[in-house]
Amino acid sequence: MDTMVNTISVEKATTSKIHDVDFDNLSFGNTYTDHMLVCDFKNGTWNTPKILPYGPITLDPSSKIFHYGQSIFEGMKAYKDDSGGVWLFRPLENWKRLNRSAKRLAIPELPESHFMEGLVSLLQLEKDWVPKNPGSSLYIRPFMFASGTGFHASPADEYKFIIALAPSGAYFSGKVKVKIEETYSRAANGGVGYAKAGGNYAGQFYPTQLAVEKGYQQVIWTDDNEHKYIEEAGAMNVFVRINDVLVTAPTNDRILDGITRKSILDIAKGEGIPTEIRKISVDEVVESAKNGSLKEMFGAGTAAVVSPIAAFGYQQKDYELPEISNGYATLLKNRITDIQYNRADDPYGWRYKV
Ligand code: PLP
Ligand code: COI
Repeated sequence: MDTMVNTISVEKATTSKIHDVDFDNLSFGNTYTDHMLVCDFKNGTWNTPKILPYGPITLDPSSKIFHYGQSIFEGMKAYKDDSGGVWLFRPLENWKRLNRSAKRLAIPELPESHFMEGLVSLLQLEKDWVPKNPGSSLYIRPFMFASGTGFHASPADEYKFIIALAPSGAYFSGKVKVKIEETYSRAANGGVGYAKAGGNYAGQFYPTQLAVEKGYQQVIWTDDNEHKYIEEAGAMNVFVRINDVLVTAPTNDRILDGITRKSILDIAKGEGIPTEIRKISVDEVVESAKNGSLKEMFGAGTAAVVSPIAAFGYQQKDYELPEISNGYATLLKNRITDIQYNRADDPYGWRYKV
């Protein structure tokens, strides 16, 4: 890794909010720690990041983020083990993906040192905020946006990179029911679907609201061309188990290349589970639900971890998945979280000590 020339300065918060937090009842992403990392891109270069008290930031109304949506983010977690050690999971993959997103949105790429040294310094300061409770973690939200000004529809000349931290519990509460989308699209060929661009999520909200009104939590997006093949869900990649084979869609420029997805594929292979990366038609999912060969369906992502799908809706009809207590989802969730929380060996070298 390149190293930064200057060290990261720390402006400490005058008081800590930590004692106001109920760590036994954490929701997802609603409580923030005492500090944040802020790094500015000005005059053609990323400055040395600073750690500041967490709080509002001031932006000019003509900042291009507000007008042209140059905004990207990442999602990561820090996990605490039984001895109080704090761990990250494949952080360099997030840094690489941040820069793939940056490139697609014409945002200047961030050096590895700024990302990794910034992240580790912030986490070392906020270690006490990493929850110990089972199923909880410190959700990490690195994000980057155009702070530079102007109404000309062109890339900004100034950007901000910020890391904010939120001690969090589960992303979903209760059973997850999904709607297979028949009308709207999340992404198109040649578009920005593979980037973690804020606008990808904004575009999902309306169709997802329509699904939520009908009792679903998430939409499973289908290809924009024919709505014939399942791609991914709003906040996670999707796996289906047909008989004993675990299948997921190939990534392409419409799908987010999930770090959990690829880790699950490696773990499944290591467990001797037959895996296939191939197109999955909606017809195949419906048919296999009808004939009983669809054994499991689950989502995989940093926030979602491994979330079993209890039912899916398609063409006004709901299809329930069988209740299965020791299926692939349970096994794979246990294996990946055992690595993340330092409860098991890490044969892949994915864990990263803070
Ligand atoms: N797909 C979408 C649209 C997401 O927002 C996420 C979450 O980051 C994922 C998939 C899963 O990606 P990862 O496993 O890297 O968190
Ligand atoms: C994550 O899993 O980290 C994500 O970024 C998904 C987000 C929509 C909560």
